[in-house]
Parts: sequence; structure tokens; C-alpha cells
Amino acid sequence: MLNGKSILLGITGSIAAYKSIDIIKGLRQEGASVQVIMTKASRHFISPLSIEIASDGNVYCDMFESPLSHLSLPADSDLFVIAPATANIISKYANGSADDLLSAAMLAFSSLSRPMIIAPAMNWKMYESPVFQRNLKYLISIGVKTVGPERGSLACGEEGIGRMADIGRIIEAIKGSMQEQDLAGDNILVTAGPTREYIDPIRYISNRSSGKMGYAIAKIAKRRGAEVTLISGPTSVVPPDGVNIINTETTNDMYKAVMDNISWSSIFVMSAAVADFMPAETKKEKIEKGDVSLLNLIKTTDILKEVGKLKDRPIVVGFSAEVGYKIERARRKLFEKGLDMIVFNDVTADGSGFDVDTNEVVIIDREGERKLPMMSKEDVAMKILDKIKGIKKTYG
Ligand SMILES: Cc1cc2nc3c(=O)[nH]c(=O)nc-3n(C[C@H](O)[C@H](O)[C@H](O)COP(=O)(O)O)c2cc1C
Repeated sequence: MLNGKSILLGITGSIAAYKSIDIIKGLRQEGASVQVIMTKASRHFISPLSIEIASDGNVYCDMFESPLSHLSLPADSDLFVIAPATANIISKYANGSADDLLSAAMLAFSSLSRPMIIAPAMNWKMYESPVFQRNLKYLISIGVKTVGPERGSLACGEEGIGRMADIGRIIEAIKGSMQEQDLAGDNILVTAGPTREYIDPIRYISNRSSGKMGYAIAKIAKRRGAEVTLISGPTSVVPPDGVNIINTETTNDMYKAVMDNISWSSIFVMSAAVADFMPAETKKEKIEKGDVSLLNLIKTTDILKEVGKLKDRPIVVGFSAEVGYKIERARRKLFEKGLDMIVFNDVTADGSGFDVDTNEVVIIDREGERKLPMMSKEDVAMKILDKIKGIKKTYG
């Protein structure tokens, strides 16, 4: 998605500087060209040679060795990211210093109204210093986006806030800044993952849903500017930045969370795979093996159908995960549940369904259907949201 984009990366003197190799690789894999400016201090932590190899030779270290690069590099770049960003560079930028190539380029870039992202990295004592916080707040107030830092164990052995954000988060922030904000103003409610229905305090009924598809929808919707609430069943997927997350366990929990949030949502995507059955009664004691015949199952609430019945409802999108190419079932559900769109997939097909990063789906709406080739779940999410935008236009 960064094809043809030119990204300027500033690397400063933090132990996290070695991670910038992976940022360069990640950005180039997404199709971007990357130019790098290294400060003098950063070169103690990683050699310019390594960065030169990763960036295909696009490394600049000294203002006087490549005259006017402090102006030409910003002018030629769509986005400036500083990762890791030291307390020092943040202070210098906040105060308008321009005494080396990176700080001079940042100052020049600030007049161009293009996105700048910083990924602070430092010891927690530096991060929590009121002086540093004042500088950081000032940068945020002039439109600089920050990603991280994270809390955890720091390079110095201490625990606290200050670790540079994960590379995936930094690249996602860059993608978000480069993406057209065509869903700005939309409130999107997404459900993801499985639900659990307890038989007794130890055992439950659930399914194999990993939550990856729903999380991908939430992530892409956020990247496209929507306000996103993600109601998640138990999963191990890391939630995207900037998304409101509501964790749930049972179908009833999820139903309640959906109903609590539906009235202000313009789009509802039900990608969670709820457990369709629950025990009529959850036993308080562990059920003995011999008593298995006592298990009496009843249907769980059909959340999608309940939302479809609402008078003032948002655009409603369902998923139909089937065993085999039973697309007829999906077409029927679209009408029976009063949906605007349904996404069909055969969970037994190679590279489709649960716990994989790809999917092969058919998007069905009231006007027709479109079979998509196998693609990443993020690309599927992009296509689903494109189609939802089409529906929005028809209705609005
Ligand atoms: C071992 C070591 C680790 C350091 N790590 C950090 C760091 O993570 N964050 C930070 O703000 N400063 C860190 N510093 C201090 C900076 O390197 C120092 O402030 C330097 O002047 C920053 O210059 P620059 O911003 O031009 O790269 C570290 C210093 C040393 C010696």
C-alpha cells in the first residue's frame, strides 16, 4: 500500500536504533522508497554500512558532505518518521534547533504540511520528566503523530514506559498517515473471535475462530479514518492502535455489548463466530464423566438477526463460514436476517477460514455477488470496506 511513496527515516542515538533495519525492510516490502538520515549518536549504536545495505545506499549523515540535503530530502519525501526518537531530538525539534542534518531537515519539513511520526524510545525517567513531556505535548499540538512508547522491560534492565513501539505498530502508523481517510465520520462496530459457553466451571463449548478477520477489519477501518469499536471474544490477536476494545466471553456478553453500542454506529460488521449452542444450565460443580448424558443444549442468541430487526439500524454486514461451498446458505441468510451484505467463505478450503492470514471470500449483497481471489485478510478487509462504502452511497 506504500507503492511509490517516499519515506524519510531519521535514526537517533538510542539502543533501539538497531531496530530501524527492520523498519526499512518493512517499508520497502510495502513498496516505499526509503531515505535515511542518521545522527552522530545513532552511529554509535548501528553502523551506517548496515543501514546503507538495508536502504539500498540511501543514507545521509552529514549536512556539509551533501550540501542542501537538509532541504532536498524533506522536499522529496511524502512522510518523515523518526524511529527511534531520542529525548534530545524531540527537544531540538520542539525548540527549532537545526545544528545537524536531521534536526535541520525536520525543521524544513515542518513547513510542508506533510505527516511526521515520531517513535520515542528512552529510559522511563527521561520519558516521565516534565521537561520532556512539555516538549512532547508541544509536538503533538502542532500535528506530529506519536507511536508508542510501550511499557515493559527496558534495555537498561529497569521496568517502565519507554520501549520503542513494536515495528508493526510503527509501520501501521505510517500506512494510516498515507491512507485516504474515506471513512472519517463513520462509527464502525466490529465483532471478532469466538465466544465460550460454559458447561461447568472448567469446560466450555466454543469454536476454532481466531479473530484474525475481524481484527483486520477493525485495523483497516481505523487506518481509513473511522472511529472503531471492536467487541472481541477470547483471542490472542493484538488489537490495533486507536481502536476501542471491549472484551467479552459468552454470546450473551457479546450480545449485550453490541446492543449497548449499536445506536451510535453507522456500520456493524459481525465477524465473530459465536458458539451456536449453549448448555441449558451451567453446572456449578464439575460434571462427572458418567453424567455426560445430562448435557442439554439450547440455541444462543442470534446477534446478527436481532440487529437486523432493529428499526433504526446501521448498515449490517454478516459472515457465513461454511464447511464446503454452500453459498446458497449465505444467500439465504442475507435475506432471512435482514442484512445489507454477507461475506461467504468455505473454511475447509486451503488458505481460508480459521487461524490463517489469508482468506478466499465471496461478497454478496442485495444487488449481486463478487468472488474474490485468495488474498491476505487485510486485503479482504479493504475490499469489504470498499463495498460497504458503495452501500452507504446507495442509502445515503
Ligand atoms: C548506551 C546509551 C543508550 C542511550 N539510549 C538512549 C535512549 O534510548 N533514548 C534517549 O533519548 N537517549 C539515549 N541515550 C542518550 C543519547 O544517545 C544522547 O542524548 C545523544 O546526544 C542523542 O543524540 P541524537 O538525538 O542526536 O541522536 C543513550 C546514551 C547511551 C550512551
